Amino acid sequence: MAYPTVSISLLCFFLLLSSLSLTFITSDATDPAPTPAPWPLQFHSILLMKNADKSLQLIHLWYDWPNGRNFNIIQDQLDSKVLYDLEWNNGTSFFYTLDDSKECRSAQLEVGILRPNWLDGANYLGQKYVNGFLCNVWEKVDFIWYYEDVVTKRPVHWLFYTGRAADVMTFEVGAVLEDEKWQAPVYCFEKKDGFQRNTLKRVLGGSFLKNSM
Ligand SMILES: *[C@@H]1O[C@H](CO)[C@@H](O)[C@H](O)[C@H]1NC(C)=O
Repeated sequence: MAYPTVSISLLCFFLLLSSLSLTFITSDATDPAPTPAPWPLQFHSILLMKNADKSLQLIHLWYDWPNGRNFNIIQDQLDSKVLYDLEWNNGTSFFYTLDDSKECRSAQLEVGILRPNWLDGANYLGQKYVNGFLCNVWEKVDFIWYYEDVVTKRPVHWLFYTGRAADVMTFEVGAVLEDEKWQAPVYCFEKKDGFQRNTLKRVLGGSFLKNSM
C-alpha cells in the first residue's frame, strides 16, 4: 500500500507549490529575467537544514572549486555525532565519522561536485520574501527552488523537491578550509579495501583479481 500514499503526498506537495507560486510578486514585464549569481569559487557557509520530517541539521559547507572539492560537515540537532561528507571532483566521495566508531563509506559517482554556474538555465519565477529577505526565485528541472537576495545576490534559501530545505545563515566568500582537514581518515582506505579484496579472494580464489589487475 506504499504506492497510493506516495502519490497522495506528491499531489499535496504539488498543490502546495502551485499555491506558493501564486504569491510571487510579478516584476515589470519589460525587464529581462534576472539570472542567478554564479557561486563564488571558494566559500564557507553555515546552513540550517530542515528535512521533510521536520528534523534539523546544522551543516558547514566548504565549497572549493579550484581544488575540486566540496565538504558538508553535518550535525543533527542535539546529537554529538558529526558526519563528514567529502566529495572530490573526480566523483569519489567519502562519508565518515572522526569518533571512536571509525565509520567510513565511500562512493564513486558519475559526476563531480557542483560547478560554480550549476544554476545556469534555471527558470525564473519572480520575487518573493523569504525569512524577511526580498529574493529572486528560480526553479531548476523540478529539482530545486533557489532564493537569492535581490540586493546582495547571496543565496538565502533553497528547497529540494523532496521537501528538504536549507536556510543560509552565513556566507563567507573566499573562506578556505585548511588542506589537512580534507584528508579522509586512514580507515576509509584500509577497511573497505581490505574487505573487498578478502571477499573477492575468498569467492574467486584469487585468479579473478590477478587477471583483472
Ligand atoms: C579522487 O581524488 C581523491 C583525492 O585526491 C582520491 O582519494 C581518490 O582516490 C580519487 N579517486 C579516483 C577514482 O581517482
